[in-house]
Amino acid sequence: MTSPAPATPAKGLEGIVAASTRLSDVRGDVGKLIYAGYDIDELAGKVTFEEVVHLLHHNHLPNRKELAELKEHLASCRELPAGVVRIIEEFPKDTPPMHAIRTAISALGCFDTTSDDDTMDAQRQKALRLIARIPIVTAYFHRSRQGKPLLPPDPTLGEAANFLYLIDGERPSLDKERTMDMCYVLHADHGMNASTFSARVTIATLSDMYSAITTAIGTLKGPLHGGANEGVIKMLKEIGSLDRVDAYIEECLEQKKKIMGIGHRVYKTLDPRAPHLKRMAQILSAQLGDPKWIQMSERIAELMLTRKNLHANVDFYSATVYYSLGIPTDLFTPVFAISRTSGWTAHVLEQLADNRLIRPQSLYTGPVGLKVVPLEQR
Ligand SMILES: CC(C)(COP(=O)(O)OP(=O)(O)OC[C@H]1O[C@@H](n2cnc3c(N)ncnc32)[C@H](O)[C@@H]1OP(=O)(O)O)[C@@H](O)C(=O)NCCC(=O)NCCS
Repeated sequence: MTSPAPATPAKGLEGIVAASTRLSDVRGDVGKLIYAGYDIDELAGKVTFEEVVHLLHHNHLPNRKELAELKEHLASCRELPAGVVRIIEEFPKDTPPMHAIRTAISALGCFDTTSDDDTMDAQRQKALRLIARIPIVTAYFHRSRQGKPLLPPDPTLGEAANFLYLIDGERPSLDKERTMDMCYVLHADHGMNASTFSARVTIATLSDMYSAITTAIGTLKGPLHGGANEGVIKMLKEIGSLDRVDAYIEECLEQKKKIMGIGHRVYKTLDPRAPHLKRMAQILSAQLGDPKWIQMSERIAELMLTRKNLHANVDFYSATVYYSLGIPTDLFTPVFAISRTSGWTAHVLEQLADNRLIRPQSLYTGPVGLKVVPLEQR
């Protein structure tokens, strides 16, 4: 039986609880993020991305054997079908990477004979293949658009190091690898965010894993979601120097323009991922001897807190971290997608394990009772 539509819809579904999940909890009032029982402050710096993948997909941190098996399995899944590599090479060189990645991930589904195999075992295998392949898709598009050779993945490297190796063509330093790995850990999952919700909506129709992750990538791309990190660097470059920050922010506030990387739908206090990223941004800036970006960022965050009581979110400092790591600006959101694929796929599996079609109602605000005027009289 259909229940009557509520008198007023919750705009942006604010405050609506759309699903139960054991994967992660975002406690906006106290600024806490929990992955399957572990506070993000407990995990950050103590576990690797692969351990988080195991935690999200198996509900417990792996022991040594389980971790070794997972890493080996992910490394063995990295090779892309030749047809997908050809598609990536055919993309216009100037297409934005998120368009290329969304399309290539969708194409992976065409080359997987198990795409529509709905057994849980097949779904789990597809989830792992996607986690292993999205970094390769991203790196290959980046190399291809520069006319550089596509390198074979290095099975001795973990997920973060292999990605950096594939985009740069050289093995990263341990510091660089650890920083990237920590960024992956911090971005892996985040409750019922927009892209996760869209992945769950898609799989709830009993579509397929590739369609669900393609949907999620399209949703993450927007500047109000994952696209904000790219906007942060654009803004910092536009401001140019520390002495221009105050005037710039005042002008934006006057014109009611959004400052990218600031504010959050759920966190009404500090985003718990931000301090970890801020610390990394400070360390990297000191190492590179160019404190300008972090100084400007800190001033923007301070102004937004005092003027609007809004805090910096995950995208604010991750932008400076990626920039300092030498990652091209338009790969910031793809890096987010690479990490979040671990969470998206875990949510898809969770939705499938106890599925019901997600089908809300709407409040109709149009006219009723209109009569059709014959075409020749309109
Ligand atoms: C994340 C975001 C979409 C949350 O939006 P929301 O919950 O719908 O909040 P609203 O857009 O309704 O904002 C509430 C108020 O704060 C202001 N505000 C929110 N984020 C702001 C920002 N980044 N810059 C300036 N003002 C902001 C709004 O203008 C509004 O002010 P008002 O009440 O005076 O009109 C929003 O904060 C935003 O656009 N941030 C920038 C993009 C970003 O960093 N996204 C990544 C999120 S992890």
